[in-house]
Amino acid sequence: MCGIIGYNGYQDPKGILLDGLKRLEYRGYDSAGIAILEGDKTEVFRAEGRIQQLETKLTRHQFKGHLGIGHTRWATHGAPTENNAHPHQAGPITLVHNGIIENYLGHKLILEKSHVSFSSDTDTEVLAHLFDRELKSGLSLKDSTLKILPLLKGSYAFAVINENEPGTLVGVSNGAPLIVGIGENETFLASDVQAILHRTNRVIYLEEGQIAVCKSNHVELFSQEGESLKANIKTLHWTADQMEKAGYRHYMLKEIHEQSQAIANTISGCIDPNSGTIQIPQIEKIKDTLKSISRISIVACGTARHAGLVGKYYLERFAKISTDVDFGSEFRYRQPVLDKNSLTILISQSGETADTLAALRESKSQGVSTLSICNVRESSLARESDLVLYTNAGPEIGVASTKAFTTQLTMLYMLAVQLGEIRGIISNESAKELTTDLMHLPHLVDNSLRLEGKIEEIAQTLQDTPFFFYMGRDNLYPIALEGALKLKEISYAHAEGYPAGELKHGPIALIDRQAAVIVLAPLNNSPKSKISLKGFEDNILFEKILSNLQQVKARGGQVITIGTEGDGLFPKESKYFIGLPKTSWALNPILSTIPLQVLAYHIASLRGTDVDKPRNLAKSVTVE
Ligand code: M6R
Repeated sequence: MCGIIGYNGYQDPKGILLDGLKRLEYRGYDSAGIAILEGDKTEVFRAEGRIQQLETKLTRHQFKGHLGIGHTRWATHGAPTENNAHPHQAGPITLVHNGIIENYLGHKLILEKSHVSFSSDTDTEVLAHLFDRELKSGLSLKDSTLKILPLLKGSYAFAVINENEPGTLVGVSNGAPLIVGIGENETFLASDVQAILHRTNRVIYLEEGQIAVCKSNHVELFSQEGESLKANIKTLHWTADQMEKAGYRHYMLKEIHEQSQAIANTISGCIDPNSGTIQIPQIEKIKDTLKSISRISIVACGTARHAGLVGKYYLERFAKISTDVDFGSEFRYRQPVLDKNSLTILISQSGETADTLAALRESKSQGVSTLSICNVRESSLARESDLVLYTNAGPEIGVASTKAFTTQLTMLYMLAVQLGEIRGIISNESAKELTTDLMHLPHLVDNSLRLEGKIEEIAQTLQDTPFFFYMGRDNLYPIALEGALKLKEISYAHAEGYPAGELKHGPIALIDRQAAVIVLAPLNNSPKSKISLKGFEDNILFEKILSNLQQVKARGGQVITIGTEGDGLFPKESKYFIGLPKTSWALNPILSTIPLQVLAYHIASLRGTDVDKPRNLAKSVTVE
């Protein structure tokens, strides 16, 4: 949470910092601020709310300095007021920070005893005063950093400047991401590459506990022990163009429309042209180890966890491996009993979600192998996992996850099919058929997106509906959860997802004329080959969901069905029917997600919410 940007070079930092903050605004947008060193004085500007407010404040200000830092905040310690906004100052020190200093109160008490007074409720200001104390004892910014880091507990990253060292910008990463950008006679610090990618594609991903001392023309790295480290400079793959909206009104809409390409990119390189079956190269290399896996734990948060729930169906049905799915925030605290012969799969778009990272570390501490499905290369999750499968969705900027989700499902499908074949559960013939189905998926996703006009019309009639209920059975139950999450996070309408058969055990009490009920009832294409897996080859639950639909209809609920084009049953029973192209049991969750994303987007857009940056949320949650 929170976005950090830093600049040390020859240009006016104001524009660079504001632009960087706008690109990082998805990480938090409760308040924002910048600080620029002007001669031997640091000018600080802060504003409550969005970057726009800060920009307005700065309209008439010109700067001569070339060193600055900036911050966009997602409040943890202290209300989202201007007082608590970063940067924070103490003496010559100015600092911005992301994450949490868990033991800040202890330090604050000690500082208060030496008559230090505080002007905010933040842990960040305490850190600034710790620096001030060290500088007073004659240490440099770098040496103060070395002295202070062992005193701090928690996961954090920060950028700091000192009025007495005008050519130096120091950044630290310890459990929260910080990236150094290297340009021509200029250096940058940022929480995420997208803040600086249009300025340089040469970056250093700081590793756990590393300190970067950035001068305008070079960067030095140090360990917490003060040892000089060799910098591993990477050249990035993502282009600045991929970060822009490309004419769409919102990033979310652009990302919804990018899904067929994102899925195709995820599949690319994972199909063996000779055998015509899925062969993820990284999995192929360790197939002997994977043969003996007895159990899988999937751990993730939010939308990524919903992908994991679908993954459970895939892994149990195709590979016959018993699979549990946990919330990242719960996993380590329930003291999981993990078998050395098991595998933990972590799923995360950003690779920086604190709870998911903690689950990875818990698994590793119990000696369990870890595999991550991740979208961001060089993220903490990717770096720390034993094996990484990248989703290749490209940058996802909208806070509401869309293409990351469908590519995670694609990767889980491929993993399960390949494991099924490796373990002898599915035949080569079935694996080929499942691979062919998958190869058609990008095209089917594109066709589903053609329904956007119709869905937008439905959204118009539903925009004022106070309560939405999503239901599905089997592997579409997680999609009901995801549909409800998508709608509530961007439109602020109340929405719940349920397994349709569970309705009668309580939630049906909520259904009345005011409720809109989204029913997931696509037909499954029967496989041509004999994949002798119960419930896989036909539509055994189709009639059951029809009777669940009747139950809500009888209570006055307005039914919107996501089904299959050509279906003769559900259109008659529904107020609105969205007919998707026909696909298999396993790919229906991916295809059914598309209209739910589009519906959520248009309802939110009609309600006038900030679709890309919904209230109270942040794109990557790097705090507990
Ligand atoms: O970066 P991650 O995939 O680890 O993020 C996990 C969740 O925070 C994320 O999916 C969140 O639920 C999204 N806002 C949902 O749209």
